[in-house]
Order: sequence, then structure tokens, then C-alpha cells
Amino acid sequence: MNSKPISLRLPQETREWLERFHRGRGSLSGVAARLLEEARRQSLFPGVSFLDTRAGRRAGVEGSSLLMAEVWRWVESRGFDAAGVASHFGWSAEKAGKVLLYVGAFGKELQEDAEDLGLPAVPREGTTEPSEKEAGAPEGSGWEGPRISHPFASLIDAAKEARLRAYAPYSGFRVGAALLGKGWQIYPGCNVENLSFGLTICAERNAIQQAVVAGCREFEAIAVVAETRLPVSPCGACRQVMAEFGSFKVILATLAGEVFESTVDELLPRSRTGILDRD
Ligand code: THU
Repeated sequence: MNSKPISLRLPQETREWLERFHRGRGSLSGVAARLLEEARRQSLFPGVSFLDTRAGRRAGVEGSSLLMAEVWRWVESRGFDAAGVASHFGWSAEKAGKVLLYVGAFGKELQEDAEDLGLPAVPREGTTEPSEKEAGAPEGSGWEGPRISHPFASLIDAAKEARLRAYAPYSGFRVGAALLGKGWQIYPGCNVENLSFGLTICAERNAIQQAVVAGCREFEAIAVVAETRLPVSPCGACRQVMAEFGSFKVILATLAGEVFESTVDELLPRSRTGILDRD
């Protein structure tokens, strides 16, 4: 991991607490860095909290002693089915959505956690209830359950974070995007400008490209954030590039928190009509 040292002043009480807390958990600076990373994740994913386990500190489900790795095990065998997760763990749809957002973003790490902790795999199909396929759910990859109210606040936060990485020396206008794949993974994007202005790539297209490289082509939503008075509006080129992958929610937000919700279809009607259609 690429890391850099920083020095910071801590109030005496915090330092004394850290000195006690790090014992048995690792070096003081390693544990402090880990705690900061935990705080970062908690601010991005309100569904997560961290707890000590026999294999060290691990991500857990906020407000319970359940580990995110246990949810990952369920998802690994039953799929990213928000409705299924909600009913299996007895959660509201919103809570299931929040947890899945974390599970999607840190799947690889959670798989390792599950292995470290020796968590058993979940059997593939439910034995008592019919699976969604048997119940006549439509075929296709990703989540097929009923739509739930997504925790878009987390997606907007991820876009805000991506915005901080914008390369915008010419306009000074930083834009961040966060694209939510059907597998609940988040793909960030920021604008990357160029001296030859036309070569600039917008945050939205950057996010789409990151997702496609990672193997994701089906999307639930994209959040776009800029420091504007009114929510920013994707340019025509980005609308066309988004439309290449069908319609999904577009959530446009200001840093101050004003949100405008739309869809790709609404923002770009007739996006494919007639193109290459020569018969
Ligand atoms: N920009 C985006 O990244 N996304 C938008 O939705 C609007 C515009 C960028 C492109 C350029 O770097 C700067 O904002 C000014 O247009």
C-alpha cells in the first residue's frame, strides 16, 4: 500500500487512550492509521461499524454484532439480492441497501475476512422457500428483486470524495461522480482536464470507463457533485455515453446538499433511435 507519514498533534486524553487501545492490536501508528481508515469508511458507508474479532478488527454491521463478512458469505451464494438480504437478516430494505453498498465496495477484503475467520459458506439454494428463479423472476445478471429505496446519500458522498481528486487546473471547476453498479460496487470518476481543452474528460465518463474496465456494464445510478449553486448537469457527450448502457438513475447534487433526481432516458430522449439503423 502506498502510504506517507504525517505528524499530528493529539490532545493528551486522546493520546493516552490510543496508547492503551493499540496494545494487543498492533503498533501505535498502525492502529491509529487503521482507525482513521475506519472513520473514512464509516463516513462513506453509514451501514458499517468496526469491532474486534478473534482475527483482529473487522467490519461489522452497524448496530449489531454481525460481521460484514457474514453478509458477504450470504451474498456470495445467493447473489446481490437486496430483498433477500432484508428478509434473511430481518432488516428494512433501506438497511439492507446500506449494508450491500459496503459489501459491494469491499467484496475482496470481506472474502479474505470470511476465510481468516473460517466462516462457513452458505448453502446455495434456500431449502424451504422457492428461489426467485423458480418463483418466475426475470432472468438476467445482478439484482432482480423489487426496487428498494437506495441510500443515495452514500453514493453522493463517494462522488464528493472523487471530486477531491479532480484534475481541473484550467477551469478550477472540480466535478466528482460515483457510479453504482448492479453488483452494488461503486466506481468513482472525476474530471481530468487537458491543455488541449477538447481532450478533457468529464467525471461521468471517467466513472463509466472505470466501471467497464472492472467488468461492470449494468448500473443502478450515478451521482454527480460539483460546487455549484444549482445541481450540475451532465454534458451532452456524457449523456450519450451513459445512454450506451441503458437508462439508470442520475442524481445531481450540490456540495450544499441540493439534489435533483432524473434518469438517463429523461436527460437524453431518443438517444439511440435511428443510429446505424439502415435496413
Ligand atoms: N464537467 C464534468 O466533469 N461534468 C459535468 O457534468 C460538467 C462539466 C467538467 C468538465 C470540465 O473539466 C469542467 O467541468 C468545466 O466544464
